[in-house]
Amino acid sequence: MIHTMTKRWLAERKQEKYYRLAKKYDYRSRASFKLMQIDDRFEIFREGDSVVDLGASPGGWLQVAKERVGDGKVIGVDLRPIKPIDGVMTILGDITAKGTMDELLEKFEGKADVVLSDMAPNIGGHYSTDHARSVHLCIFAIDVADHVLRKNGKMVVKVFMGDMFPSVKWELERRFQSVKVHEPDATRAASSEVYVIAKGYKGHRPKEMADPAEQQRTTEFTVKGELK
Ligand SMILES: C[S@@+](CC[C@H](N)C(=O)[O-])C[C@H]1O[C@@H](n2cnc3c(N)ncnc32)[C@H](O)[C@@H]1O
Repeated sequence: MIHTMTKRWLAERKQEKYYRLAKKYDYRSRASFKLMQIDDRFEIFREGDSVVDLGASPGGWLQVAKERVGDGKVIGVDLRPIKPIDGVMTILGDITAKGTMDELLEKFEGKADVVLSDMAPNIGGHYSTDHARSVHLCIFAIDVADHVLRKNGKMVVKVFMGDMFPSVKWELERRFQSVKVHEPDATRAASSEVYVIAKGYKGHRPKEMADPAEQQRTTEFTVKGELK
């Protein structure tokens, strides 16, 4: 078994490696490499695709998305400002607020081929609260997908692992033909985050339209109240 100190040392070296690479290639965040690795492995982007990126600041994923879709439309949303990127639209706002969703629908126009969410709550250090907040953001990301994603579209969403994870996965499985869980190499070894890659959007399926077997399940996740 690898000693904890060795694990930490390896994790720090990995972090450093992506930090240096981001600096060298002018990416705004180490997270850029996570998205590159996801795209290389799961073939998310195609030339000309329209992309919505939630939790996009400082803009590392936007840079990668824009590079990979070329003339395609790319829009990023975040609570924090995003410095301008050529050919990319941005919205400053909280995606859990109705006004932000309305602004997104107005600015974006038409359907998206890909919805990305790298949203993360402010880490408070209390594990199950951080997990619950992350799940809360995922549910909003899925709601955005239900509003903007075209049929057969794709979604990549980050979630902090925990006991509510199966409910998030199930919400995605109801809507997409294929759902895979992935931990990119550029993710910190100590981190509990994973990315769910969902492909083949079937459209929003209200619960009453789900398969009878699915209706038996009791784990459907509902957001009650604000989790801020
Ligand atoms: C890990 S960072 C994203 C990094 C980004 N993908 C990149 O490559 O530069 C997570 C982001 O989620 C944003 N976020 C958290 N909650 C949000 C919310 N309710 N609405 C919009 N953005 C949110 C945070 O402000 C933060 O910038």
